[in-house]
Amino acid sequence: MDNEVIKAIRERRSIRRFKPEQINDEELKTVLEAGTWAASGKGKQDPWIVAVQNKETCDMLRKMNAKLMGTEADPYYGAPTIIIVFGTAEWGNNVKDGSLVIGNMMLAAHSIGLASCWINREDAMFETEEGKQLLKEWGLPDDVVGIGAISLGYASAHPHTVKPRKEDYYRIIK
Ligand SMILES: Cc1cc2nc3c(=O)[nH]c(=O)nc-3n(C[C@H](O)[C@H](O)[C@H](O)COP(=O)(O)O)c2cc1C
Repeated sequence: MDNEVIKAIRERRSIRRFKPEQINDEELKTVLEAGTWAASGKGKQDPWIVAVQNKETCDMLRKMNAKLMGTEADPYYGAPTIIIVFGTAEWGNNVKDGSLVIGNMMLAAHSIGLASCWINREDAMFETEEGKQLLKEWGLPDDVVGIGAISLGYASAHPHTVKPRKEDYYRIIK
């Protein structure tokens, strides 16, 4: 069977080249709303989502992440929007809940013609003093941990090749 959702799931790709121009507010809100509709453990809606479009703050995030990665390159690939997802440190489903929010947002982004890529290391970034200061500025509780982030924007290049799915990815037991 096939439909628009299935097609979007199949065709979404991680994009690592972005145009500098910013996405519009309607596009951003569509992606964020899609994140909020993710299933969550016990229906707690535990994750917090922070979308950063302020250039100075984005640059700070780029530096913080690059430092942890041990590179000078921008781990967010120059995307004009960086969306970070957090969860409560003590909540046993924090990574699962946050990951699903990220998955929803990447899929929604693709479905409206935006490019995205999951970016790692936000757990360590927000354990630093700089990171904790940002959490305060953003009005988040102190007991949150970074789950992950997405780079978001308009693609300036698409991947040429797509890995086929591994042969034994799933099995059906009847
Ligand atoms: C948990 C997770 C962490 C990832 N971290 C990064 C990252 O730090 N940088 C990056 O460029 N891509 C990252 N990716 C993207 C993967 O490399 C990408 O999903 C994978 O190569 C498959 O490509 P596709 O998304 O186009 O299907 C991450 C993906 C996941 C699910």
